[in-house]
Amino acid sequence: MKQSVVITAALPGEATRILSRKYEVTSHPTEPPRSEDELITILAEADGAITLLTDPLSRRVLSSNPNLRVIGNYAVGVNNIDLEAARELGIVVTHTPGVLTDATADLTLALLLAINRRLLEGDRLVRNGEFRFWDPLMLLGASLQGKRLGIVGMGRIGSAVARRALAFGMEVVYHSRSSRDLGFPADRLELDDLLRTSDFVSIHTPLTPETHHLIDRQALALMKRDACIVNTSRGPVIDEKALAETLENGTIRGAALDVYEEEPEVEVRLLGLDNVILLPHLGSATVEARTEMARTVAEDVTAVLEGGRPRFPVLSPDGSPEPGELEENQ
Ligand code: GLV
Ligand code: GLV
Repeated sequence: MKQSVVITAALPGEATRILSRKYEVTSHPTEPPRSEDELITILAEADGAITLLTDPLSRRVLSSNPNLRVIGNYAVGVNNIDLEAARELGIVVTHTPGVLTDATADLTLALLLAINRRLLEGDRLVRNGEFRFWDPLMLLGASLQGKRLGIVGMGRIGSAVARRALAFGMEVVYHSRSSRDLGFPADRLELDDLLRTSDFVSIHTPLTPETHHLIDRQALALMKRDACIVNTSRGPVIDEKALAETLENGTIRGAALDVYEEEPEVEVRLLGLDNVILLPHLGSATVEARTEMARTVAEDVTAVLEGGRPRFPVLSPDGSPEPGELEENQ
């Protein structure tokens, strides 16, 4: 009998078709976040699964199907999975590092530029019929050149953002747990010093118990009055209510968010503010990245089902990575 693979969403590219040559594949139409009970029903009897970052793979879900051998998470972040439970149950978890690095770094730069050059305000102004003449004082922004970018979490994506920022003439500083040779100029700072001195703060750390609300009210209070914060990682790294309050009080200049604490909900006070840019989790949303992500998880799920080693395990039954190692990989 063929082994079976469940895909909890429709994915771009060829991966689903290639998997169906070998396996019984059930691909579910993409839907709003599924509950644990729905997942238990969908995953029943599958040998392998390809899951989304919105699928809550709790211990209860993972232990509901004793056949389940591998989860290929269609994301680099794996905060939706109870890794400890997966390890105990002998379920291999794989993810998609590397292939979405450039897409996410590009989006981060797009947000830095959009904030500094007031792109959304300009677009609104034109649509509202308010572009009446070229005014030397209209919508003046600021240059990125010479500004300090503070990167929180210097893994693959953080480094790709740093290289782009350096090309724009920015100065880069960063905070991460371990120091290593980056191959480009960037000083490693304590988080407080980074927050106190950066013109932009950009978050590139995975969501773990240690990074939950890493940027809280106190952290935001350290930032410069004209500083902006950008988040393309995971919403809960920032205390969203504290951020809304900080922006309302004008104690920082602005924010650009691609991710939220309770996706797809957005703190209602943010919706009314002009000094924030709000995107619907588009970090990896390029045809190239999303296609490669599908290929990566499909190949790794195949590798495990064939008794081989996956290329991108988050953790395998023979040992989980140290948290520091995980951070380096994000
Ligand atoms: C997207 O947010 C991802 O983790 O891949
Ligand atoms: C993304 O590609 C990452 O692994 O950081």
